[in-house]
Amino acid sequence: MLADAIDRKAARVGWPKAKLDADAPLSGYALAMVFEKNSTRTRVSFDLAITQLGGVPIVLDTATSQLGRGESIADTARVLSGYCDAIMVRTDDHAKLLEMAHYASVPVINGLTDDSHPCQMMADLQTIVESGKSLPGLKVAWLGDGNNMLASLIEAAGLMHFDVVAACPQSFAPSDAVVAAGQGRARVVNDAAEAVAGADIVITDTWISMGQAHAEAKMAAMWPYQVNEALMAQAKPDAKFLHCLPAHRGEEATDAVLDGPQSLIWPEAENRLHAQKAVLRWCFGQIG
Ligand code: CP
Ligand code: NVA
Repeated sequence: MLADAIDRKAARVGWPKAKLDADAPLSGYALAMVFEKNSTRTRVSFDLAITQLGGVPIVLDTATSQLGRGESIADTARVLSGYCDAIMVRTDDHAKLLEMAHYASVPVINGLTDDSHPCQMMADLQTIVESGKSLPGLKVAWLGDGNNMLASLIEAAGLMHFDVVAACPQSFAPSDAVVAAGQGRARVVNDAAEAVAGADIVITDTWISMGQAHAEAKMAAMWPYQVNEALMAQAKPDAKFLHCLPAHRGEEATDAVLDGPQSLIWPEAENRLHAQKAVLRWCFGQIG
């Protein structure tokens, strides 16, 4: 899947940016996108991905669809399955995504839940590989909240054979089940310096995820995990920095790191488009 994302990206040179992929492999397919939370990257990248592959995007949100007036997920899943060939869902409770998948008769894609964000992780892995690093054996440091992104990073570590050291405050560490999904590749520590020592990749994310209250106690616990130049200097000299965005500049990472020479945040954001194309093609059995 990653190789397809990299190849298709390489074929898209020049301008205009939104031109269609010449082979239009998903011509005639429709993708419904259901947003129960805000989005910039996921919405734009999936919309353009299905369009450039020759298909049709349809966006629904709770403000303007009947979901916002209480139509059930089960009924929505069955109705959308009658029109569309795949459904992407961004929601809060992971159980809602599973319910959508249970009642839909078409593939359902996780566009982020409170538990995980696998489509972002695809783009992150693509970005790491494109930076010239190979995934097996890589040391990845995670700083801050034990959130949905960390869960997807840990799951990817188990599948792609790299190692994650996550530095999190005790009360915001990932659950044992999340760590176990890393198949022995993930370790949680409390010390930021311990996590970044010798790291090839340093990753962080917002301290307050969508749907969470802005709690002063949580913010206070997070400051020792801020990714700043002093912390980056303790990783390998050629280490790269990733952040799925949106960033809360000056909180989880400083401007100097976000905009610095080790940062890959802009190619990482762009790679959502290329990675999402690969996810879509995989859903339709076109690639392995
Ligand atoms: N990284 C990410 O998923 O961004 P959006 O919330 O803007 O979609
Ligand atoms: N952890 C963040 C990721 C945003 C893309 C959130 O869930 O809000």
